[in-house]
Amino acid sequence: MSTVLALETSCDESAAAIVRDGRVLASAIASQMEEHARWGGVVPEIASRRHVEALPGLIAQVLAGSGVAMSDLDAVAATVAPGLVGALLVASVTARALARRHDLPFLGIHHLEGHLCSAALGDEPPPHPHLVLLVSGGHTELVRVDAPGVYRRLGRSHDDAAGECFDKVARLLGLGYPGGPAIQAAAEGGDPQRFQLPKGRVSRPEGGFHPYDFSFSGLKTAMLRQVQALRAEAAPFPLADLAASFEQVVAEVLVERSCRCARDEAIDTLVLVGGVAANRRLRRLLERHCQAGGLQWRLAPLAWCTDNAAMIAVAAERRLQAGCRSPLDLGVAARLPLEQADRLYEARACF
Ligand code: KG4
Ligand code: ZN
Repeated sequence: MSTVLALETSCDESAAAIVRDGRVLASAIASQMEEHARWGGVVPEIASRRHVEALPGLIAQVLAGSGVAMSDLDAVAATVAPGLVGALLVASVTARALARRHDLPFLGIHHLEGHLCSAALGDEPPPHPHLVLLVSGGHTELVRVDAPGVYRRLGRSHDDAAGECFDKVARLLGLGYPGGPAIQAAAEGGDPQRFQLPKGRVSRPEGGFHPYDFSFSGLKTAMLRQVQALRAEAAPFPLADLAASFEQVVAEVLVERSCRCARDEAIDTLVLVGGVAANRRLRRLLERHCQAGGLQWRLAPLAWCTDNAAMIAVAAERRLQAGCRSPLDLGVAARLPLEQADRLYEARACF
Protein backbone atom coordinates (compact mmCIF):
# COMPACT_ATOMS: atom_id res chain seq x y z
CA MET A 1 0.00 0.00 0.00
CA SER A 2 1.40 3.44 -0.86
CA THR A 3 0.20 6.98 -0.34
CA VAL A 4 1.44 9.80 -2.55
CA LEU A 5 1.02 13.57 -2.45
CA ALA A 6 1.31 15.15 -5.92
CA LEU A 7 1.47 18.78 -7.03
CA GLU A 8 0.73 20.16 -10.50
CA THR A 9 1.46 23.71 -11.72
CA SER A 10 2.54 23.22 -15.35
CA CYS A 11 0.13 25.75 -16.86
CA ASP A 12 -2.82 27.69 -15.41
CA GLU A 13 -4.23 25.28 -12.83
CA SER A 14 -2.65 24.94 -9.39
CA ALA A 15 -3.49 21.50 -8.04
CA ALA A 16 -2.71 19.10 -5.22
CA ALA A 17 -3.96 15.56 -4.64
CA ILE A 18 -3.42 12.55 -2.44
CA VAL A 19 -3.80 9.08 -3.92
CA ARG A 20 -3.60 5.75 -2.13
CA ASP A 21 -3.44 2.52 -4.14
CA GLY A 22 -4.84 4.18 -7.24
CA ARG A 23 -7.75 5.73 -5.34
CA VAL A 24 -8.11 9.49 -4.98
CA LEU A 25 -8.38 10.38 -1.28
CA ALA A 26 -8.45 14.14 -1.89
CA SER A 27 -7.99 16.53 -4.79
CA ALA A 28 -8.04 20.32 -4.94
CA ILE A 29 -7.69 22.62 -7.93
CA ALA A 30 -7.43 26.42 -8.07
CA SER A 31 -8.09 27.61 -11.58
CA GLN A 32 -6.66 30.90 -12.82
CA MET A 33 -8.84 30.87 -15.92
CA GLU A 34 -10.75 34.05 -15.13
CA GLU A 35 -7.55 35.99 -14.67
CA HIS A 36 -6.05 34.80 -17.97
CA ALA A 37 -9.37 35.18 -19.81
CA ARG A 38 -8.89 38.96 -19.71
CA TRP A 39 -5.79 38.52 -21.90
CA GLY A 40 -7.28 35.82 -24.14
CA GLY A 41 -4.68 33.23 -23.09
CA VAL A 42 -2.25 32.22 -20.36
CA VAL A 43 0.24 34.90 -19.22
CA PRO A 44 3.23 32.91 -17.85
CA GLU A 45 4.37 35.49 -15.25
CA ILE A 46 0.87 35.80 -13.80
CA ALA A 47 0.53 31.99 -13.76
CA SER A 48 3.73 31.53 -11.71
CA ARG A 49 2.72 34.17 -9.16
CA ARG A 50 -0.74 32.70 -8.68
CA HIS A 51 0.73 29.19 -8.22
CA VAL A 52 2.97 30.52 -5.44
CA GLU A 53 -0.07 32.03 -3.73
CA ALA A 54 -2.41 29.05 -4.19
CA LEU A 55 -0.27 25.99 -3.58
CA PRO A 56 0.24 26.09 0.23
CA GLY A 57 -3.53 26.36 0.77
CA LEU A 58 -4.24 23.49 -1.63
CA ILE A 59 -1.73 21.21 0.11
CA ALA A 60 -3.31 22.00 3.49
CA GLN A 61 -6.72 21.33 1.97
CA VAL A 62 -5.89 17.83 0.63
CA LEU A 63 -4.09 16.83 3.82
CA ALA A 64 -7.11 17.87 5.90
CA GLY A 65 -9.61 16.43 3.41
CA SER A 66 -7.95 13.01 3.29
CA GLY A 67 -7.05 12.79 6.97
CA VAL A 68 -3.52 11.90 5.84
CA ALA A 69 -0.58 13.30 7.81
CA MET A 70 2.80 14.06 6.23
CA SER A 71 4.17 11.13 8.22
CA ASP A 72 1.68 8.77 6.45
CA LEU A 73 3.09 9.62 3.00
CA ASP A 74 5.39 7.34 1.01
CA ALA A 75 6.44 9.95 -1.56
CA VAL A 76 5.95 13.51 -2.76
CA ALA A 77 5.64 14.18 -6.50
CA ALA A 78 5.42 17.13 -8.86
CA THR A 79 4.99 17.66 -12.59
CA VAL A 80 8.41 18.73 -13.91
CA ALA A 81 7.91 18.67 -17.72
CA PRO A 82 6.67 19.77 -20.17
CA GLY A 83 5.07 23.15 -19.43
CA LEU A 84 5.83 26.77 -18.57
CA VAL A 85 9.20 26.75 -16.83
CA GLY A 86 8.38 29.39 -14.20
CA ALA A 87 5.09 27.66 -13.43
CA LEU A 88 6.62 24.16 -13.26
CA LEU A 89 9.24 25.42 -10.79
CA VAL A 90 6.60 26.27 -8.18
CA ALA A 91 5.36 22.68 -7.69
CA SER A 92 8.79 21.22 -8.23
CA VAL A 93 10.54 23.36 -5.59
CA THR A 94 7.67 22.88 -3.14
CA ALA A 95 7.61 19.09 -3.57
CA ARG A 96 11.39 18.80 -3.26
CA ALA A 97 11.39 20.95 -0.10
CA LEU A 98 8.64 18.79 1.43
CA ALA A 99 10.45 15.60 0.47
CA ARG A 100 13.67 16.83 2.08
CA ARG A 101 11.97 18.14 5.22
CA HIS A 102 10.03 14.89 5.75
CA ASP A 103 12.71 12.53 4.47
CA LEU A 104 10.51 11.12 1.68
CA PRO A 105 11.33 10.04 -1.88
CA PHE A 106 10.71 12.70 -4.54
CA LEU A 107 9.30 11.86 -7.97
CA GLY A 108 9.35 14.25 -10.91
CA ILE A 109 6.49 13.37 -13.27
CA HIS A 110 6.02 13.92 -16.99
CA HIS A 111 2.75 15.82 -17.47
CA LEU A 112 1.65 13.63 -20.39
CA GLU A 113 2.31 10.46 -18.39
CA GLY A 114 -0.10 11.98 -15.86
CA HIS A 115 -2.74 12.50 -18.55
CA LEU A 116 -2.23 8.90 -19.72
CA CYS A 117 -2.81 7.69 -16.15
CA SER A 118 -6.10 9.61 -15.88
CA ALA A 119 -7.78 6.73 -17.74
CA ALA A 120 -6.87 4.45 -14.82
CA LEU A 121 -9.14 6.58 -12.60
CA GLY A 122 -12.18 5.23 -14.49
CA ASP A 123 -14.12 2.10 -13.56
CA GLU A 124 -12.09 -0.20 -15.78
CA PRO A 125 -8.41 0.63 -16.37
CA PRO A 126 -7.30 -0.06 -19.97
CA PRO A 127 -5.51 -3.37 -20.67
CA HIS A 128 -2.09 -3.36 -22.40
CA PRO A 129 -1.33 -2.73 -25.15
CA HIS A 130 -3.58 0.23 -25.77
CA LEU A 131 -3.55 3.29 -27.99
CA VAL A 132 -4.04 6.68 -26.33
CA LEU A 133 -5.47 9.69 -28.12
CA LEU A 134 -4.10 12.52 -25.99
CA VAL A 135 -5.74 15.84 -26.82
CA SER A 136 -4.98 18.89 -24.68
CA GLY A 137 -4.18 22.57 -25.01
CA GLY A 138 -0.53 21.84 -25.76
CA HIS A 139 -0.53 18.36 -27.31
CA THR A 140 -2.31 16.19 -29.85
CA GLU A 141 -0.67 12.78 -29.89
CA LEU A 142 -1.38 9.14 -30.57
CA VAL A 143 0.66 7.07 -28.15
CA ARG A 144 1.02 3.30 -28.14
CA VAL A 145 1.39 1.99 -24.58
CA ASP A 146 2.73 -1.57 -24.45
CA ALA A 147 3.31 -1.63 -20.69
CA PRO A 148 3.47 1.00 -17.94
CA GLY A 149 6.17 3.48 -18.99
CA VAL A 150 6.71 1.89 -22.44
CA TYR A 151 5.53 4.47 -24.96
CA ARG A 152 5.78 4.93 -28.70
CA ARG A 153 4.34 8.00 -30.38
CA LEU A 154 2.59 7.04 -33.62
CA GLY A 155 0.87 10.30 -34.50
CA ARG A 156 1.00 14.01 -33.69
CA SER A 157 -0.13 17.44 -34.81
CA HIS A 158 2.27 19.33 -37.05
CA ASP A 159 0.94 22.73 -35.99
CA ASP A 160 -1.66 23.65 -33.35
CA ALA A 161 -2.81 21.20 -30.70
CA ALA A 162 -6.52 20.37 -30.84
CA GLY A 163 -7.24 22.37 -27.66
CA GLU A 164 -5.27 25.33 -28.98
CA CYS A 165 -7.40 25.21 -32.13
CA PHE A 166 -10.57 25.25 -29.99
CA ASP A 167 -9.17 28.25 -28.07
CA LYS A 168 -8.23 30.22 -31.22
CA VAL A 169 -11.50 29.50 -33.03
CA ALA A 170 -13.45 30.49 -29.91
CA ARG A 171 -11.68 33.84 -29.94
CA LEU A 172 -12.55 34.22 -33.62
CA LEU A 173 -16.20 33.54 -32.80
CA GLY A 174 -16.12 36.10 -29.99
CA LEU A 175 -16.44 33.41 -27.31
CA GLY A 176 -14.47 33.29 -24.07
CA TYR A 177 -11.32 31.53 -22.89
CA PRO A 178 -10.86 28.56 -22.56
CA GLY A 179 -12.41 27.96 -25.96
CA GLY A 180 -13.33 24.27 -25.66
CA PRO A 181 -16.16 24.57 -23.12
CA ALA A 182 -17.33 27.85 -24.76
CA ILE A 183 -17.60 26.24 -28.22
CA GLN A 184 -19.31 23.18 -26.75
CA ALA A 185 -21.94 25.41 -25.12
CA ALA A 186 -22.40 27.52 -28.27
CA ALA A 187 -22.79 24.38 -30.42
CA GLU A 188 -25.76 23.16 -28.36
CA GLY A 189 -28.66 22.48 -30.73
CA GLY A 190 -26.59 23.48 -33.80
CA ASP A 191 -26.51 21.56 -37.10
CA PRO A 192 -23.09 19.84 -37.30
CA GLN A 193 -23.51 19.14 -41.04
CA ARG A 194 -24.36 22.68 -42.16
CA PHE A 195 -20.78 23.83 -42.95
CA GLN A 196 -18.27 21.63 -44.76
CA LEU A 197 -14.84 22.24 -43.25
CA PRO A 198 -11.46 20.70 -44.20
CA LYS A 199 -9.84 17.73 -42.46
CA GLY A 200 -6.22 18.86 -42.62
CA ARG A 201 -3.74 16.25 -43.75
CA VAL A 202 0.05 16.23 -43.56
CA SER A 203 1.89 15.24 -46.72
CA ARG A 204 5.02 13.08 -46.69
CA PRO A 205 8.15 14.07 -48.63
CA GLU A 206 8.10 10.71 -50.41
CA GLY A 207 4.45 11.23 -51.44
CA GLY A 208 1.10 10.47 -49.86
CA PHE A 209 0.07 11.52 -46.37
CA HIS A 210 1.06 10.72 -42.80
CA PRO A 211 -1.86 8.45 -41.92
CA TYR A 212 -1.99 9.25 -38.21
CA ASP A 213 -0.81 12.87 -38.09
CA PHE A 214 -2.90 16.00 -37.76
CA SER A 215 -2.91 19.59 -38.96
CA PHE A 216 -5.38 22.20 -37.74
CA SER A 217 -4.03 25.36 -39.39
CA GLY A 218 -6.10 24.91 -42.58
CA LEU A 219 -9.23 24.43 -40.50
CA LYS A 220 -8.50 27.65 -38.61
CA THR A 221 -8.14 29.55 -41.89
CA ALA A 222 -11.33 27.99 -43.27
CA MET A 223 -13.19 29.10 -40.15
CA LEU A 224 -11.82 32.64 -40.53
CA ARG A 225 -13.00 32.82 -44.16
CA GLN A 226 -16.40 31.38 -43.23
CA VAL A 227 -16.85 33.87 -40.38
CA GLN A 228 -15.86 36.78 -42.63
CA ALA A 229 -18.31 35.67 -45.33
CA LEU A 230 -21.16 35.17 -42.85
CA ARG A 231 -20.56 38.52 -41.13
CA ALA A 232 -20.83 40.23 -44.51
CA GLU A 233 -24.35 38.81 -44.93
CA ALA A 234 -27.43 40.49 -43.57
CA ALA A 235 -28.79 37.23 -42.08
CA PRO A 236 -28.34 36.51 -38.34
CA PHE A 237 -24.95 34.93 -37.59
CA PRO A 238 -25.45 31.11 -37.35
CA LEU A 239 -23.21 30.66 -34.30
CA ALA A 240 -24.64 27.32 -33.12
CA ASP A 241 -24.39 25.70 -36.58
CA LEU A 242 -20.87 26.98 -37.13
CA ALA A 243 -19.66 25.90 -33.68
CA ALA A 244 -21.29 22.46 -34.11
CA SER A 245 -19.77 22.00 -37.59
CA PHE A 246 -16.33 22.91 -36.23
CA GLU A 247 -16.65 20.51 -33.29
CA GLN A 248 -17.85 17.80 -35.64
CA VAL A 249 -14.93 18.02 -38.06
CA VAL A 250 -12.36 18.09 -35.23
CA ALA A 251 -14.00 15.07 -33.59
CA GLU A 252 -14.22 13.18 -36.91
CA VAL A 253 -10.61 13.74 -37.85
CA LEU A 254 -9.36 12.71 -34.39
CA VAL A 255 -11.53 9.62 -34.16
CA GLU A 256 -11.08 8.40 -37.75
CA ARG A 257 -7.27 8.56 -37.62
CA SER A 258 -7.10 7.05 -34.12
CA CYS A 259 -9.30 4.10 -35.07
CA ARG A 260 -7.31 3.51 -38.25
CA CYS A 261 -4.07 3.58 -36.27
CA ALA A 262 -5.43 1.11 -33.70
CA ARG A 263 -6.58 -1.24 -36.47
CA ASP A 264 -3.27 -1.05 -38.37
CA GLU A 265 -1.33 -1.69 -35.15
CA ALA A 266 -3.69 -4.53 -34.15
CA ILE A 267 -4.44 -2.79 -30.84
CA ASP A 268 -7.87 -3.61 -29.35
CA THR A 269 -8.34 -0.68 -26.97
CA LEU A 270 -8.51 3.05 -27.69
CA VAL A 271 -8.17 5.46 -24.75
CA LEU A 272 -9.18 9.14 -24.76
CA VAL A 273 -7.47 11.58 -22.36
CA GLY A 274 -6.59 15.31 -22.01
CA GLY A 275 -8.60 18.52 -21.71
CA VAL A 276 -10.31 18.11 -25.09
CA ALA A 277 -11.41 14.61 -24.00
CA ALA A 278 -14.06 16.49 -21.98
CA ASN A 279 -15.81 17.33 -25.25
CA ARG A 280 -19.19 15.58 -25.40
CA ARG A 281 -19.34 15.27 -29.20
CA LEU A 282 -15.84 13.78 -29.31
CA ARG A 283 -16.67 11.27 -26.55
CA ARG A 284 -19.88 10.18 -28.30
CA LEU A 285 -18.25 9.85 -31.72
CA LEU A 286 -15.33 7.84 -30.35
CA GLU A 287 -17.72 5.44 -28.62
CA ARG A 288 -19.75 5.03 -31.81
CA HIS A 289 -16.74 4.42 -34.05
CA CYS A 290 -15.15 1.96 -31.62
CA GLN A 291 -18.40 0.06 -31.30
CA ALA A 292 -18.83 -0.11 -35.07
CA GLY A 293 -15.19 -1.12 -35.59
CA GLY A 294 -15.09 -3.78 -32.87
CA LEU A 295 -12.67 -1.83 -30.69
CA GLN A 296 -12.83 -1.43 -26.92
CA TRP A 297 -12.62 2.09 -25.55
CA ARG A 298 -11.90 3.88 -22.29
CA LEU A 299 -12.68 7.54 -21.71
CA ALA A 300 -10.90 9.47 -18.96
CA PRO A 301 -13.58 10.40 -16.39
CA LEU A 302 -14.78 13.97 -16.99
CA ALA A 303 -13.42 15.16 -13.63
CA TRP A 304 -9.87 14.13 -14.61
CA CYS A 305 -9.69 15.27 -18.27
CA THR A 306 -8.42 18.81 -17.70
CA ASP A 307 -5.30 19.43 -15.64
CA ASN A 308 -5.39 18.04 -12.11
CA ALA A 309 -2.97 16.52 -9.60
CA ALA A 310 -4.80 13.21 -9.09
CA MET A 311 -3.55 11.91 -12.45
CA ILE A 312 -0.02 13.04 -11.51
CA ALA A 313 -0.30 11.17 -8.20
CA VAL A 314 -1.41 7.97 -10.00
CA ALA A 315 1.60 8.23 -12.33
CA ALA A 316 3.84 8.86 -9.31
CA GLU A 317 2.47 5.88 -7.40
CA ARG A 318 3.23 3.62 -10.37
CA ARG A 319 6.74 5.01 -10.67
CA LEU A 320 7.30 4.60 -6.92
CA GLN A 321 6.18 0.98 -7.01
CA ALA A 322 8.49 0.36 -9.97
CA GLY A 323 11.45 1.55 -7.88
CA CYS A 324 11.93 4.95 -9.55
CA ARG A 325 13.36 7.87 -7.57
CA SER A 326 14.19 11.37 -8.82
CA PRO A 327 17.25 13.25 -7.56
CA LEU A 328 16.47 16.23 -5.32
CA ASP A 329 18.34 18.51 -7.73
CA LEU A 330 16.15 17.46 -10.69
CA GLY A 331 15.33 20.44 -12.91
CA VAL A 332 12.24 21.31 -14.93
CA ALA A 333 11.90 21.37 -18.73
CA ALA A 334 9.61 23.24 -21.11
CA ARG A 335 9.84 20.31 -23.52
CA LEU A 336 10.56 16.63 -23.03
CA PRO A 337 9.29 13.84 -25.28
CA LEU A 338 7.16 11.32 -23.40
CA GLU A 339 9.44 8.51 -24.60
CA GLN A 340 12.20 10.13 -22.51
CA ALA A 341 10.27 10.22 -19.23
CA ASP A 342 12.71 7.66 -17.78
CA ARG A 343 15.36 10.38 -17.75
CA LEU A 344 13.61 11.87 -14.72
CA TYR A 345 14.71 8.95 -12.51
CA GLU A 346 17.94 7.72 -11.02
CA ALA A 347 17.14 4.05 -11.51
CA ARG A 348 17.32 3.43 -15.25
CA ALA A 349 15.14 0.34 -15.53
CA CYS A 350 12.12 1.75 -13.72
CA PHE A 351 9.40 -0.42 -15.18
O1 KG4 B 1 -5.26 19.14 -20.49
P1 KG4 B 1 -5.57 20.57 -20.32
O2 KG4 B 1 -6.35 21.00 -19.10
O3 KG4 B 1 -4.27 21.44 -20.30
C1 KG4 B 1 -3.14 21.14 -21.06
O4 KG4 B 1 -2.37 20.25 -20.64
O5 KG4 B 1 -3.04 21.76 -22.14
O6 KG4 B 1 -6.32 21.04 -21.64
C2 KG4 B 1 -6.81 22.33 -21.81
C3 KG4 B 1 -7.48 22.42 -23.16
C4 KG4 B 1 -7.89 23.83 -23.55
O7 KG4 B 1 -7.41 24.11 -24.84
C5 KG4 B 1 -9.41 23.77 -23.53
O8 KG4 B 1 -10.03 24.64 -24.46
C6 KG4 B 1 -9.67 22.32 -23.86
O9 KG4 B 1 -8.66 21.61 -23.20
N1 KG4 B 1 -11.01 21.86 -23.40
C7 KG4 B 1 -12.00 21.46 -24.24
C8 KG4 B 1 -13.13 21.19 -23.42
N2 KG4 B 1 -12.78 21.42 -22.12
C9 KG4 B 1 -11.48 21.83 -22.14
N3 KG4 B 1 -12.03 21.33 -25.58
C10 KG4 B 1 -13.19 20.92 -26.13
N4 KG4 B 1 -14.31 20.67 -25.43
C11 KG4 B 1 -14.34 20.78 -24.07
N5 KG4 B 1 -15.45 20.52 -23.39
ZN1 ZN C 1 -2.57 18.90 -19.41
